[in-house]
Amino acid sequence: MGREHLLGIEGMPAERIKLILDTAESFKEVLERPIRKVPTLRGVSVANLFFEPSTRTRVSFELAEKRLSAELVNVSAASSSVLKGETLKDTARNIEAMKVDIVVIRHSAPGAPHFLARCLESSVINAGDGAHEHPTQALLDLLTLRERFGELKGLRVVIVGDITYSRVARSNIWGLKRMGASVALCGPPTLMPLRVEGMGVEVYHNLDQALQGADVIYVLRLQLERQKEGLLPSLREYTNQWGITAQRLTKLKQKFIIMHPGPLNRGIEITPEVADGPYSVILDQVTNGVAVRMAILYLLSGGKVEG
Ligand code: CP
Repeated sequence: MGREHLLGIEGMPAERIKLILDTAESFKEVLERPIRKVPTLRGVSVANLFFEPSTRTRVSFELAEKRLSAELVNVSAASSSVLKGETLKDTARNIEAMKVDIVVIRHSAPGAPHFLARCLESSVINAGDGAHEHPTQALLDLLTLRERFGELKGLRVVIVGDITYSRVARSNIWGLKRMGASVALCGPPTLMPLRVEGMGVEVYHNLDQALQGADVIYVLRLQLERQKEGLLPSLREYTNQWGITAQRLTKLKQKFIIMHPGPLNRGIEITPEVADGPYSVILDQVTNGVAVRMAILYLLSGGKVEG
């Protein structure tokens, strides 16, 4: 096995993104079959190290591994020797010593997957590292957009909310820009990174202005602890200024779709009628997560990703 990793979207060439999306599309066909399982990764062992809570990413990695016939083990911080003080490096090296080929890691520390990639012989996949990157989320989002619009080039995507602390925003900005989309960010000044324009994005603080001409409204989860940190006057104020409501959307003249990475804070950053409404592709994003993770596991464990 080669020692390729999937650590982030920053710097990932467009050809590599396209290869992952094309491969995911072929796995979507597998997922439509009555028996959604292929023997592709028989004999490959995967360890899922989730040191932060997760529903979508953890379950979709596990389903992707099972549907490719890989062997898998799940390790969480709460049930591992991390609680007894073992270091991340020791935990990972001990798991690898049991002959694991791929390590999937979610961790609150930015750079934790990069650190493991330096310590281990296994391939490492970043399933979300702190506020840094969430590359598999961005790839499943790109697949969802490509399915909806045919191509990514020229799309106007408006990402709304807590940009500073969002690994989803960061990975999506890199991926969307690399594939030729234009990206605008909108949110409170206290949740907007300094000098973010340097990433080649537009910045707005007025939501109604930002949404003009948007093909895609990408709503981020408001991390509720931001209010305790004094970064927001109140949740009600946030919802008034930056919440995506049906009333706000009726003012838009163009066609658009609504995306959200989950989990949702219904009634805060998005109303239930928008989340469950006709413009929402939120559950399509979740469905595509399995195919994208199958593609990544497949490419890292045999097929080389070019670029
Ligand atoms: N989108 C996302 O990462 O969701 P989870 O935290 O449930 O994995």
